[in-house]
Amino acid sequence: MVSPRVYRCMLLVVAGWIALAAVSPARADSGQQTPPTQLPGRNALLMGADWYPEQWPEERWETDLRMMEAAHLNVSRIAEFAWSRMEPSEGRFDFDWLERAVRAAETHHIAIVLGTPTAAPPAWLTQKYPETLRVEQDGQRVTHGTRAHGSVTSVKYREFCRRIAEEMAKRFGRDANVVGWQIDNEYGYALMSYNEEGRRQFQEWLKAKYKTMEALNTHWTTSYWSQTYDNWEEVPIPVGEHNPGLRLDWQRFVTYAWTAYQQNQIDAIRAHAEPRQFITGNFMGYGFDPIDHYVITKPLTFVAWDDYVGTGHLDPNSNGISHDAMRGLKRENFWVIETQPGTVNWSALNNSLDKGEVRAMAWHDVGHGADEVSYWQWRSALNGQEEIHGTLVGPDGEAVPLLAEVAQTAKEFADVQGAFRDTRVVSEVALLADYESRWAINWQKHTEKYDQSTILKSYYRTLRKIAQSIDIVSPDVSLAQYKLVVAPDLYLIPKDRAERLLEYVKNGGQLVLGPRSGLKDEFNALVTTRQPGYLAEAGGGQVEQYYALEKAVPASGSLGNGEISVWAEYLKTTAADAEVLLRFGKSNGWLDGQPAVVSRKYGHGQITYVGGVLSDDLTAAAAQWMTKASGVTAAFGPVPDGIEVNRRVGPKGAVFVLINFGAATQTVALPRPMQSLLERRTSDRVELPQYGVAILSEAKN
Ligand code: GLA
Repeated sequence: MVSPRVYRCMLLVVAGWIALAAVSPARADSGQQTPPTQLPGRNALLMGADWYPEQWPEERWETDLRMMEAAHLNVSRIAEFAWSRMEPSEGRFDFDWLERAVRAAETHHIAIVLGTPTAAPPAWLTQKYPETLRVEQDGQRVTHGTRAHGSVTSVKYREFCRRIAEEMAKRFGRDANVVGWQIDNEYGYALMSYNEEGRRQFQEWLKAKYKTMEALNTHWTTSYWSQTYDNWEEVPIPVGEHNPGLRLDWQRFVTYAWTAYQQNQIDAIRAHAEPRQFITGNFMGYGFDPIDHYVITKPLTFVAWDDYVGTGHLDPNSNGISHDAMRGLKRENFWVIETQPGTVNWSALNNSLDKGEVRAMAWHDVGHGADEVSYWQWRSALNGQEEIHGTLVGPDGEAVPLLAEVAQTAKEFADVQGAFRDTRVVSEVALLADYESRWAINWQKHTEKYDQSTILKSYYRTLRKIAQSIDIVSPDVSLAQYKLVVAPDLYLIPKDRAERLLEYVKNGGQLVLGPRSGLKDEFNALVTTRQPGYLAEAGGGQVEQYYALEKAVPASGSLGNGEISVWAEYLKTTAADAEVLLRFGKSNGWLDGQPAVVSRKYGHGQITYVGGVLSDDLTAAAAQWMTKASGVTAAFGPVPDGIEVNRRVGPKGAVFVLINFGAATQTVALPRPMQSLLERRTSDRVELPQYGVAILSEAKN
């Protein structure tokens, strides 16, 4: 008989092996050693600029491309808004100019990613076929001249999208210098058309899902407020406050509609493109929520996203969350296909990133799993909505001061890229992020102060300080590789999800659930077992009542001392072996002296329920407790405050990216001597000024 302790050790060994397997040639799932983000025959790290040749006389292209090459840039995304140049009138295609641009780029060793132009349909199209334009919630059709004005549910619009994608692929699907495709751009911010065509598709989608009106009425509990529907045609598109079941299904339909819109173009491209050409999209990081990104990114080769700071400066935790969430979509490296060249034009204050900060940001991207970073944009059009956005080249065609810093970073990418070949981020800790739960809580926040991203960030910040590497993943993937899994507010826990989470715990996993967990099922309906619903029995505790708090409540126990604010849940233990780690102090009478955190061993693992939003000091104490209880180790080792640690692991060993985001110069003692790649020496310490970067390799050849 194996004792739980020994069994746990065995599991850790197996988990470690699985983690390594994730980066080893024997990768069970894909059989791939090289991440799809690293292209055959090209550098493992790429740097580029998004370029719009259609906005410039052809005589200028050579100068631009020469300047890009001199700046060590080796990739460029083009054409994603050039529909009116590629199809100047209906059915008349002109790709000759684009072909010349692709060839000219090739001469300068710049690989091309082609964007399909469907975020900006041309005027002849929307004029002749007004049904291709979106209708807004107030019933008004949008006018031409912005972007994202096409209707994703318009059958006519999709025909045109398919055709332009197909014609592009026929011409460039075998082009040696075209390495891949980006479909559309930012998926039209997920805007929908509130018209009859879209509504009918939603009704069809509901019909396919529920089969009978009775099933729909039951799951949405439409007896409430006389919402009962007798036939599919009666179901509205929800606008504003509506039945939570209907809203969740509408949001799923939004995801479905955009995924189908994407697939329409993927099919058109794949029919003509060589398999080596990747297909991606341009996503917008954590917090851009209207589409369930786990679903829409499934058919893509890898994830690419656009990373902007806007006002202020890079916060490595906020930006790290977005990177880790984007990496978590497919649990694979990604590209930053657009990023801020110093400033943007759309923020409240378009201040510049500091000197050195753009370089630090690029390395921070790589540390979190990016294999490509591209600046948006090379040079701005002389007119148009974004003419005063940051660029690398000014209106006079000369380099702006930032270009030298970008060139230095691109050179560094090229110099050390070999160390990043076949490497990925490997973490022992996962945070669970679920789009559907996020939507559902936001529709019924109960207190305006309940901010899911602040809560996620407080766990992220404290846990990352300890573990130095975090994954952010869907609750529905295999969690076996993680020592610790934290779900800050997993509102929707249907039975099958609960079973999978329990399986993880039974096998030795440490699961921490935050407040509001498990109140709802997959129909966004209340579960009839007290929270955390299907996990309550195993966890040995349940929520007796929840409270939106007017003011913070003191809390203390073996976990530490601090406060709970915004949200509190009066917990009750239901199993003799459940442990109370924290209790509420004096509050509204109901909470006084009641358990606030309950933990119980289950199988070979442990479930802990945290019944409230913890203050920063309590979150830090909880993070200490949970990482210790689960045996989480630091990816690198102790570093001074302000230093961000990132680790990527490959078959040859680990490579670390250390960045100083603090104001003061810091000396970092390395846990063992490593090769400091930018300094080209072996070292046991590095000195980092503000925005200083060290790339440290332990690779064995
Ligand atoms: C987004 C878009 C780009 C451009 C930039 C400006 O990322 O994809 O076309 O508008 O923002 O910051």
